[in-house]
Amino acid sequence: MADGFSLSDALPGGNSPNPGAPPGQGWPAAWGHPPPGPGPFPGYPGHYPGAPGPHPGPPPGPGPFPGGPGAFPGGPGGPGHHHPPGHPGFGPPPPQGGPAALMKVPFELPLQAGLMPRMLITITGTVNARPDRFALDFKKGHDVAFHFNPRFNEASRKVIVCNSMFHNKWGKEDRTAPRFPFEAGKPFKLQILCEVDHFKVAVNDAHLLQYHYREKKLNEVTKLCISGDISLTSVMPTMI
Ligand code: GAL
Repeated sequence: MADGFSLSDALPGGNSPNPGAPPGQGWPAAWGHPPPGPGPFPGYPGHYPGAPGPHPGPPPGPGPFPGGPGAFPGGPGGPGHHHPPGHPGFGPPPPQGGPAALMKVPFELPLQAGLMPRMLITITGTVNARPDRFALDFKKGHDVAFHFNPRFNEASRKVIVCNSMFHNKWGKEDRTAPRFPFEAGKPFKLQILCEVDHFKVAVNDAHLLQYHYREKKLNEVTKLCISGDISLTSVMPTMI
C-alpha cells in the first residue's frame, strides 16, 4: 500500500502549503487524470433522499485546507470540474452566517452504479475532540471492499488500518500508511479516488496511500458507510 508515488513527487513545493492555491475545493491535480468525458455522473439521480441540498457546503471556517495544490485539471469551473446543477452529493447549502449544518454519523452513501475508475469521493468533516477511531467502509452487500480506519489511540499510538472483509472475516491488515494526517478537533478533507486497480486516498490535498482492490467487482460495491468519531460536513461523489 505504501506506494512509490507520492503527491509531493509531482507537485511544485511538494506537500508544503501552497498559498497561491484556492483553498479547499480540490483535488490533487497531480494524480494526473485526463479531463472527464461529457455529462454528469453515470447512474446517479440528481440528488439523494434526505440530502440537505445538492451542493456540498464548503468546509467550515476560513479555508482549512491551505495546502491545496489546485483543484481539478483545468481549475475551478474548467473541464475537470463537475458541478452540474443537481450534482449528486450531500452537504448543507453554503453557510449564511450560522454554523454549517452537520450530517448525521453514521452516514450511508448509496452508490447506485457501484464504483468505477475515475470515481472520486470527497468527504469533509471534523474530527471529534477526543476521538478513538473513525472508518470508511466501501461495501458490497455485507462484505467490505475497503475499510479505511484511522485509530487515534491504539496502545497510545495513532495508526491507519486498511483492510477488507469477506464472508464475515477480516483479511490481513495493512498498517503501512506513511503518516497520520488527522488531528483531534481539526477539520479535514478526505478524498478517495478509484483507479483501475486500487483506491487512492488523499487527505487535505496530499496523497496518503493506495490500497489494491481485493474485491474486483467494483460495480457491486454500492455503498459507502462512514462511522466513528467525526462530524461530517459534506460527502460528494464526482467523476474526474
Ligand atoms: C478489527 C476491528 C474492526 C476493523 C478490523 C480491521 O479489530 O474490530 O472494526 O477495524 O479490525 O482489520
